[in-house]
Amino acid sequence: MSQFEIGAAHVQRMRARRIYEALKDQIVSGVYGKDGHLPSSRSLAVELGVSRTTVTVVYEQLLAEGFIDVRQGSRPRVALAAIAPSSPDKSLPRPVPKRLSSYASRIRDIAPWSDTRDSRFVADFRYGDLAPSDFPNAIWKRAVNAAMAKTPERLAYGDPRGSHRLRMALQGYLWRARTLRCDLDQIIVVNGSQQGLDLCARLLLDPDHRFAIENPCYAMARQIFASTGATAVSIEVDRDGLNTELLTDVDARLAYVTPSHQFPLGGVMSISRRFQLLEWARRLEAYVIEDDYDSEYRYDIKPVPPLYGLQEGCNVIYLGTISKTLSPMLRIGYLVVPPELQALFATAKQLTDRHTPVADQYALASLIEAGAYEAHVRRVRRLNGERRETLLNALRLEFGNSIVIEGADAGLHIVVWFRELSAQLASVVIKTGRDAGIGLHSIASLYDPRSRDAQTDRLGLVMGYAALDSRRIERGVQLLGDVVEKTLRSSG
Ligand SMILES: Cc1ncc(COP(=O)(O)O)c(C=O)c1O
Repeated sequence: MSQFEIGAAHVQRMRARRIYEALKDQIVSGVYGKDGHLPSSRSLAVELGVSRTTVTVVYEQLLAEGFIDVRQGSRPRVALAAIAPSSPDKSLPRPVPKRLSSYASRIRDIAPWSDTRDSRFVADFRYGDLAPSDFPNAIWKRAVNAAMAKTPERLAYGDPRGSHRLRMALQGYLWRARTLRCDLDQIIVVNGSQQGLDLCARLLLDPDHRFAIENPCYAMARQIFASTGATAVSIEVDRDGLNTELLTDVDARLAYVTPSHQFPLGGVMSISRRFQLLEWARRLEAYVIEDDYDSEYRYDIKPVPPLYGLQEGCNVIYLGTISKTLSPMLRIGYLVVPPELQALFATAKQLTDRHTPVADQYALASLIEAGAYEAHVRRVRRLNGERRETLLNALRLEFGNSIVIEGADAGLHIVVWFRELSAQLASVVIKTGRDAGIGLHSIASLYDPRSRDAQTDRLGLVMGYAALDSRRIERGVQLLGDVVEKTLRSSG
């Protein structure tokens, strides 16, 4: 063997060793899944720029050590026993992040999302989920396929404000469904209300500012505004929505409200308060963020027109979402912003994530244009109306006058107050509920922690029903009855 040949063989062995180590790490850490396929030797060789022989040598080694299975004519597969059980060593100290931004340190104490759903539950009264069977699967699939085939921009970046076609469709929808009239340029398509709130926070708040917010409120709204370093001024709500008397002397840059259906208590903001709120915003040159998250669901009451457009030139930013009608998974919402903010919102959206995925925008536009979206809304309104009726009847039957129900006229959730249980028993009730097979969710976390004790001396549960069928609702309420009885007995 010549010197050159010996050198080349050495280099090949070194390469094979490195590829072997990298693949082994990836297999063990689960990159390919439990019995997923690895690339074929041919494609891996091309990808890594090495000879096919080098890859074959590596695969043979991994096979010999039991990390992969190889069958004639198919790609190597991860062997079942190869994946390390993922139990982190609890004795090791948790790594602490270093040198954070002030934003990171402000959000550090918010508990990260974790899936607390339990498939063994008879009923989870979690608010926010929708029934999978309500989703118009076939229509949506067809619309996405058509969008992928026809979308001229499908391989290019799109307009950060959202596609022209979807904004046109939304403009018409907002007029028909909400009597909201706006120019096309005022509409910004966002990734769910959450991104709409985020853009508002970025554009309107600084650390030394204050923002007014309902108490109790949508927790993610308070968290995102507070993440800017601005200070929350929590304003109480009652049956007429945010108490604007308490807002009069508040010096804040924005007020966040859910006037059509206060979240979570369900009040509808009275017309006099609406005018007071707009007057406050005009006087302070502040903006009102109107979160119209579930306006499609009205049962015993007439639709309430939005704040937006009540007064010419009022400083309202309107926020809508399809998370309650189609699915929260799609992450599509829309803002209607005053003309002076159009360009800023478009730029902020572009800097954040360029734009919302175009195929989904086209699919939604085609549903709205064809009338299929509004037909779907009518259908889910009826289905959710039935679920609501079942829940209310079951609760009345089980608890009679020992509970007070709030916010049942609209939306996809209600609040239930238990006259005989104190708020301190929330964690006991939730744990007993979990053991009995039901998911329960206390209202306490939706209050400003500084006022929570004063606000909620009775136990309050937020009960969502949109993901449940009537059998689960009825059985869930029976189990809730057992849970309450057990808690009363054990708390003396
Ligand atoms: C008050 C309020 N606003 C907005 C939303 C919807 O958020 P998104 O559009 O980000 O899914 C929710 C969802 O639960 C909500 O309760």
